[in-house]
Amino acid sequence: MKIRGEKISSLTAYDYSLAKLVDAAGVELILVGDSASNVMAGNETTLPITLDQMIYHATSVVRAVKRALVVVDLPFGSYQGNSEKALDSAIRIMKESGAHAVKLEGGIEIRESVERILSAGVPVMGHLGLTPQSIYKFGTYTVRAREEAEAQKLKEDARMLDETGCFAVVLEKIPAQLSREVTESIKIPTIGIGAGPHTDGQILVLHDLLGINREFKPRFLRRYADLGSVIENAISNYVSDIKTLSFPNESESY
Ligand code: KIV
Repeated sequence: MKIRGEKISSLTAYDYSLAKLVDAAGVELILVGDSASNVMAGNETTLPITLDQMIYHATSVVRAVKRALVVVDLPFGSYQGNSEKALDSAIRIMKESGAHAVKLEGGIEIRESVERILSAGVPVMGHLGLTPQSIYKFGTYTVRAREEAEAQKLKEDARMLDETGCFAVVLEKIPAQLSREVTESIKIPTIGIGAGPHTDGQILVLHDLLGINREFKPRFLRRYADLGSVIENAISNYVSDIKTLSFPNESESY
């Protein structure tokens, strides 16, 4: 698709019912993101989610998907600093969930883990820029790599992921000009979130795009529906119908 100049659409999904809709709508790549920690479990960061919980989400998504590529995040603590552990974690995800690939956050620091996973025949997607598993190192969720030194490191990390054999890389919350330079300088597709229009594809968190998660309003987010209001209204109508004895009626009874 990169060679053809055709943009790649990606979205997250964490459960069977919504993954089925995402797949049917034509998204090419579904990410079972560790953002499940925020969106599904209500944690403040992505750090608490476990490998077992990621496998549970991934298994549910894989059951629903007929055509999209399913990529699963290796969660915090399952790959950093120990490439053997990284391979074990990736193999558990592939074996137990039936997913097609894994995603890891970071550059040169995780090179050994990336290489070891790739050597086992597991496709790897990289993730650079704002890497939420390192939030306590960054201190904030603001745009990354505005400074020359960080931008330079990001370009080197992207080249390393490309040369090592990753099949794609997520670029999160970096300046549009930098993501353009990275996209033009590597062979593998870049998938952007808050990285401007020049990446080879785009990804958003499903619940943000659908307006289910209403508090989160970053500049890069385009909201395609207000399902939060739709769901809340539907449920409040249900409550009111019960209170006023209009539900269930005769035709809804046996
Ligand atoms: O976990 C996630 O949802 C992600 C995307 C935001 C890229 O990593």
